[in-house]
Amino acid sequence: MAKTMPKFKGKLVMGANGRTNPLVWLVAIICTVIAVAVVVVGIAVFIGYMVIHPRVPVISVNNAHLDLLRNDYAGLLQTQLTIVVTAKNGNARAHASFSDITFNISYQGQDIAVLVADPFEVPKNSSKDLSYVVQSSSIPLSPDQMEQVGDAWKKNEIEFDFTGAARTQWKVGPLGSVKYLCHLDCDLKFRPLNGTYIPSRCTSKSH
Ligand SMILES: *[C@@H]1O[C@H](CO)[C@@H](O)[C@H](O)[C@H]1NC(C)=O
Ligand SMILES: *[C@@H]1O[C@H](CO)[C@@H](O)[C@H](O)[C@H]1NC(C)=O
Ligand SMILES: *[C@@H]1O[C@H](CO)[C@@H](O)[C@H](O)[C@H]1NC(C)=O
Repeated sequence: MAKTMPKFKGKLVMGANGRTNPLVWLVAIICTVIAVAVVVVGIAVFIGYMVIHPRVPVISVNNAHLDLLRNDYAGLLQTQLTIVVTAKNGNARAHASFSDITFNISYQGQDIAVLVADPFEVPKNSSKDLSYVVQSSSIPLSPDQMEQVGDAWKKNEIEFDFTGAARTQWKVGPLGSVKYLCHLDCDLKFRPLNGTYIPSRCTSKSH
């Protein structure tokens, strides 16, 4: 004979008199308030990001000069360049710090120099210039590269590759800091005959 199992039926527990417990209402209201607050803060952070992002600290080359360019028949290149790198902090409320700064300059894949800088700070809404004089003697060129230098003299235009990276950071009061990594990758062009820099856009991208 099958034994009948005891059955228990659940009953919805409402508050006293079958109405919703005021405590449940309170919890629901608090949850709603928290949810709304999260959304509002999220939107505020997003808007804040959109507003400040165009002003992230940037590094750029605004001026340079080709002081010397000499190549001989043995395929040795001698050059000297002056490069002014500008670190700009467009933020009107926070100091920016720049660190891990490295730049590489090369010609036709031939490394010329690595440029570095000690960490430094840029005050609110201002900028700082790093001036480099890069001297390089006796870079051995391949026949192809020698031909490129010959063409550069003929065209009166020579192009160096300038890449770089830096870490930037804003100190945002007690809230901590916002960090970015910026990258620079540009072609520095000069007139070999008089050393003039041919301006072109050379500004870092941040992410
Ligand atoms: C930032 O500096 C520029 C000039 O360097 C000035 O015109 C501008 O008013 C300054 N902005 C703030 C918010 O200080
Ligand atoms: C610069 O060159 C060195 C080696 O030549 C390389 O390790 C480094 O990643 C380069 N840096 C940049 C920013 O291109
Ligand atoms: C250098 O030469 C270029 C082209 O020949 C010319 O446009 C430029 O004005 C010259 N710059 C100087 C400082 O003489």
